[in-house]
Amino acid sequence: MADQVYHGLEGVLAAESAICEVDHESGGLRYRGYAIEDLTSEAAFEEVVYLLLMGSLPNHKAFSAFQEELVSSRAIPSHLFDILQDIPTAVNRMDALRTAVSYLGMEDPDHALNTHAANLRKAIRLTAQMPSLLAALNVYKKLDNNVSPRTAQSHAEHLLTILSDEKPDAFSVKALNTALILYAEHEFNASTFAARVTASSLSDMHSAVVSAIGTLKGPLHGGANEAVMEMLVEVDQLGDVRQYLTNKFSKKERIMGFGHRVLKKEDPRSLIIQQYAKELGERKNQQKWYDLSTQIEKIMREEKGFYPNLDFYSASVFFLLGLPAPLYTPLFVCSRIAGWAAHVIEQHDQNRLIRPRCRYTGAKDLAFTPLSERDF
Ligand SMILES: CC(C)(COP(=O)(O)OP(=O)(O)OC[C@H]1O[C@@H](n2cnc3c(N)ncnc32)[C@H](O)[C@@H]1OP(=O)(O)O)[C@@H](O)C(=O)NCCC(=O)NCCS
Repeated sequence: MADQVYHGLEGVLAAESAICEVDHESGGLRYRGYAIEDLTSEAAFEEVVYLLLMGSLPNHKAFSAFQEELVSSRAIPSHLFDILQDIPTAVNRMDALRTAVSYLGMEDPDHALNTHAANLRKAIRLTAQMPSLLAALNVYKKLDNNVSPRTAQSHAEHLLTILSDEKPDAFSVKALNTALILYAEHEFNASTFAARVTASSLSDMHSAVVSAIGTLKGPLHGGANEAVMEMLVEVDQLGDVRQYLTNKFSKKERIMGFGHRVLKKEDPRSLIIQQYAKELGERKNQQKWYDLSTQIEKIMREEKGFYPNLDFYSASVFFLLGLPAPLYTPLFVCSRIAGWAAHVIEQHDQNRLIRPRCRYTGAKDLAFTPLSERDF
């Protein structure tokens, strides 16, 4: 085997997968062969979850049964709901969510089983329970665990109802449904890879998702969407986009929501979510976030050659939907849980332990001195 080191595993093909195709040449993105443009214009998020987990689109009957199963699996244990509500507001919501999923894993009826069927049951439960975990962790709106999770709404409408103070209109539901579809899957991104590494030791679904949540939290990955909204607020307060960026450039700081390890040109997800950022701004008479975003994008493209990724315009979409900023990255989890679960299932179905090598660069052949003789 060649001795080449690929830092950050850049460009390395680490496995074969039939879940998602990221075409870095054309920028195209397809889930199990279907273009995200078609899925976002036609499908419900739940259909996409079904597609990712089962491998094909559901017919009407299968979809109704799947929706019912999701709705009836939404509740979380009331003692967990109470624990989560007691977590201090200063605690990062991703830390709390990671802990909550770990807790759910201990109590899951299938927790010791890694079979395909058990993994599917766990995937459906986790997808359904995620909004309830966010509701419990929402520091801005207190809910009763017994009533909120059982309403028979779509996933997007359910999330908006339990997390924001506004009654969701059809366009807001469509906007969040679109964001959920776009966030659902992106092949071997860092958190999915973390989930697969964990699953590859034949550890369980919940452990893999805990690994993934810990990985997604970082600002270079899922944490970027919260950082983008902080940036937009700072730019608005400063009142000068160019000055803000010039200052960041001079300190060699990264601009959140720009750049991608695989996509070096347009991110097709950004083009789709951008339209919702624009229209939501117009509908809510708050165009300033979209205006500031387009100014930042113009300078980043022209002067740095960086394109926005999905997190850039998603931040103002979430803001305009009245969703609390500390829950932007947890909202990413509500969607990506489908992709993670599909990958855990694929990993378990064709497992080979993921165990790469590294090139050793440390000291060699040192003479050992007993502790009693170490007088330095
Ligand atoms: C996503 C990301 C981690 C990809 O990183 P990567 O593959 O290591 O980055 P690249 O190899 O493309 O970066 C090369 C150079 O561009 C710079 N760069 C990359 N993204 C940048 C950004 N968003 N703003 C400013 N500079 C950036 C790097 O600092 C590096 O500069 P250097 O060569 O002077 O050290 C990176 O673009 C980033 O940090 N973006 C901001 C966070 C973000 O939006 N994350 C969500 C990703 S979907």
